[in-house]
Amino acid sequence: MIVILLGPPGAGKGTQAARLEKSYGLKQLSTGDMLRAAVAAGTPLGLQAKAKMDSGGLVSDELVVKIIEDRMKQADCANGFILDGFPRTVPQAEALDKMLSGLGRSLNAVIEVTLPDAVLVERITGRFACKSCGAGYHDVFKRPEKDGVCDVCGGTEFVRRKDDTAETVQARLDAYRTQTEPLLPYYKAKGILLRVDGGQAIDVVAEEIDKAIGVNERA
Ligand code: AP5
Ligand code: MG
Ligand code: ZN
Repeated sequence: MIVILLGPPGAGKGTQAARLEKSYGLKQLSTGDMLRAAVAAGTPLGLQAKAKMDSGGLVSDELVVKIIEDRMKQADCANGFILDGFPRTVPQAEALDKMLSGLGRSLNAVIEVTLPDAVLVERITGRFACKSCGAGYHDVFKRPEKDGVCDVCGGTEFVRRKDDTAETVQARLDAYRTQTEPLLPYYKAKGILLRVDGGQAIDVVAEEIDKAIGVNERA
């Protein structure tokens, strides 16, 4: 199964993609995470992407298409994958169609996770992640069970994203509205677009996504 999670910054794409990976073995492919790893490692790719990411703008289509193309051919994607943060422009969506048809595969669903602008900033400015395993948390909505200790790996160091400031969120939201929202009619025309209200509790959003894509615990 191949599913795209579309939605504005802070909508919960990463939260839900990570859950789908854990529950159903659908690999989470987050271009944001891959780019941040490249920036942290100081690779040529990271150096190219850094300024754009820091300002809240989009990295070039060419660069992200190449990353995804390489990634989805790897063995751990054979069972299916969840695209989190890709595609983000119409040229990226067109490139994805081409790559998938070259592999003899196709998209099963595109889920638009919606969220009112007023909630985005609260979601993003409260977000933090485990430094060791990357598990995501929130100051208010998703605290670790034991304060200061990661539920997943027991790590005790946490990090916040550099682009998670109120100003950069506005630039990211602008990029979403102008460059990513045109994907909605693109996928609607293909008859595979579904919508989930991301403003609900994490478990409720999860249930609705599972229902929309037709998976369950036994799948
Ligand atoms: P990316 O990393 O994709 O960031 P984004 O799209 O801005 O989305 P976020 O990761 O901020 O939000 P999310 O929807 O994953 O929310 P999360 O689950 O964390 O991209 C970053 C940058 O990389 C871009 O700006 C661009 O520069 C570059 N880039 C990446 N892909 C690109 C591409 N394809 N093309 C070009 N450039 C690209 O949730 C947020 C918080 O809310 C968390 O703390 C979470 O715990 C909490 N939360 C989640 N769900 C709920 C809920 N239902 N109720 C309460 N709290 C919740
Ligand atoms: Mg994310
Ligand atoms: Zn951890």
